[in-house]
Amino acid sequence: MIVQCLLNHGDAVGVETPSYCFSLPLLQSAGLRVYPLPVGPAGIDPDDVLRLHRRHRLKMLFLNPNFQNPTGSVLSGERRAALLRIAEKEGIPIVEDDPFSLTAFDGRPPLPLKAEDAGGRILYVGSLSKIAASGLRVGWLAGPQEIVSRLADARQQMDFGMSVIPQWLAAKLIEGAAFDRQIGRLRVRLAERLDELRASLDYHLPGLVSFEPPGGGLNLWAKWLGASDPRQLRVLERAMSAGVAYVPGQVFGAEEPSLRLCYAKPDAGQIELGVMRLKEALLRS
Ligand SMILES: Cc1ncc(COP(=O)(O)O)c(C=O)c1O
Repeated sequence: MIVQCLLNHGDAVGVETPSYCFSLPLLQSAGLRVYPLPVGPAGIDPDDVLRLHRRHRLKMLFLNPNFQNPTGSVLSGERRAALLRIAEKEGIPIVEDDPFSLTAFDGRPPLPLKAEDAGGRILYVGSLSKIAASGLRVGWLAGPQEIVSRLADARQQMDFGMSVIPQWLAAKLIEGAAFDRQIGRLRVRLAERLDELRASLDYHLPGLVSFEPPGGGLNLWAKWLGASDPRQLRVLERAMSAGVAYVPGQVFGAEEPSLRLCYAKPDAGQIELGVMRLKEALLRS
């Protein structure tokens, strides 16, 4: 909705790289000029935003500051402040995509950028997909009233708006006391699974992967240091036929050999088996 209603063909946008956003055909198919903002352990570098803006006049930034998909990185406090200063001074709107904050293992995610949005330039987007049910297709948006109204109008004209039934279910879920318990359990479970994944990678693939364990989210981002290349289709196919899946880093725009390992779905005990299969696929290719 944001891309369709607020941007025009040929507009320049800045996108974290690697990122989930980068993996979507959405921006390219809308005819936008997409410029990468490299993501490091402390998130994107605000100087890169300024540099790109001076050259290309950015119309919007798409960011996932907390537990970024796929790297798990969190935009540092210092960089947040610098980014907000630049966005405010240069008048660059930011889409803050935040589906993971509630998964913070310690229950204390950094505040969203939106919390310090004095100029009303940030469109904050949340979702139930990662914390309750992706099939509900319910998320939310916080932003300046005129933008929210414009998007709601457009949605109304497209298909009379979304079905109220999933929204009603989502509202019941969020209001109920069970929601907080569900989030609490989710955090504990995700942290346990991440621990199992870390331990399995350390044990079975020592020296072959390097990673920074995230403090929340569903994914571990691993750089591959071995000789084979997880980006090659035959490696992925071999892994899939052994019963384990990963996403090669280039899907998210990464240049170096890397892979995203999702630890959200498997039951406890299954993760080590998955890592052993992954090892077979990577070392035998
Ligand atoms: C950063 C990010 N934003 C958005 C989404 C999609 O969320 P939704 O199911 O609400 O469209 C994902 C899903 O992987 C994601 O990783």
